[in-house]
Amino acid sequence: MLCFNTFLISATPLPLTNAQNSKTRIKTHKIKCIPEAYDDDDDDETESASKNTVAVPHHLKTITSTSNLFVKHCLKLRRSSSYRHSHGSVLVVGTTPIREIYSFQETLQDRPTVECLLVLDKHDVPQDIDGRAIHVIHVSSAVMRKLTGVQSIDSVEVIALMRIPSTFHVVSNSLNDEDRCRLFPFPHRILILDGIQDPGNLGTLLRSATAFRWGGVFLLPGCCDPFNEKALRASRGASFQIPIVSGNWIHVESLRKEFQMKMLAGHPADNQNSNKVHRLSQDFADYVADLPLCLVLGSEGAGLSEESRRACELISIPMAGEFESLNVSVAGGIFMYMLQPENRRVN
Ligand SMILES: *[C@@H]1O[C@H](CO)[C@@H](O)[C@H](O)[C@H]1NC(C)=O
Repeated sequence: MLCFNTFLISATPLPLTNAQNSKTRIKTHKIKCIPEAYDDDDDDETESASKNTVAVPHHLKTITSTSNLFVKHCLKLRRSSSYRHSHGSVLVVGTTPIREIYSFQETLQDRPTVECLLVLDKHDVPQDIDGRAIHVIHVSSAVMRKLTGVQSIDSVEVIALMRIPSTFHVVSNSLNDEDRCRLFPFPHRILILDGIQDPGNLGTLLRSATAFRWGGVFLLPGCCDPFNEKALRASRGASFQIPIVSGNWIHVESLRKEFQMKMLAGHPADNQNSNKVHRLSQDFADYVADLPLCLVLGSEGAGLSEESRRACELISIPMAGEFESLNVSVAGGIFMYMLQPENRRVN
């Protein structure tokens, strides 16, 4: 594609005071569609997602008080999606998730930026999390408990404050040519999620999309935030790796036109309308191997939106059993495996 060469996002971390890359017209703040099922106290704080930037306190080596302003800032980052996106920062809780994000950073052109590490009292920065160039603040167990929301802190020794990566975009206006190319540098296989609220499902789908080398994930309204704590855990770091765009049908339509994409939507096996529904098979995968395509998946409860049904050809996974439907992230895994770029029968 012509556009591949135009994907030249600089790897320079955004300045702390500005959550938004001023060079682009794509707004990376204010993500509205997100019901944060895991927000525990989202009273007035979400809306007022204050413009006051809270900087990392570089002068501090320890924080022991739970009423410290920076602690409050971190807590809001964990709990509130809009606060997170208005600041462009995310709190990653626990050694394993941090390590997972680090583990693939070597392969990225745009490495995750860690603003600071919060390490439990008397503990060292865990091995293979390279803390050399990063500001480390030691925190008391009371602070750690407050930030993680878990009473037992046995398993949480470290929290990282990271920048939301530049592979994530919220599009709030119409896309021009440059934007379209920049958002998905390899638009051969794009997963589109339609109202996937469950963070476990969303994270698992991101993880599978990354594993099967899909070119990116588009989030239609009603999807949960990929930087929500639970989605982050389920994604095993994929939220930081694969291009993710949050937008609406108008943007999808413009992608479809630009890249001549075939539109498919996953559909539970349905005997009544079976003549109108494609069945996933190796033959089908071969047939679409060279076509750029979007695969839309709806939520298990609500199913596909009107727009998705109208715009897409339906495809189902043939099943021998009586069971009606699969878990959406399981179905997504099967679709993405079968339709992955490399999966082609060689004669
Ligand atoms: C489907 O699987 C995902 C990933 O294992 C899980 O998080 C989600 O809760 C499951 N959905 C349902 C409805 O059981």
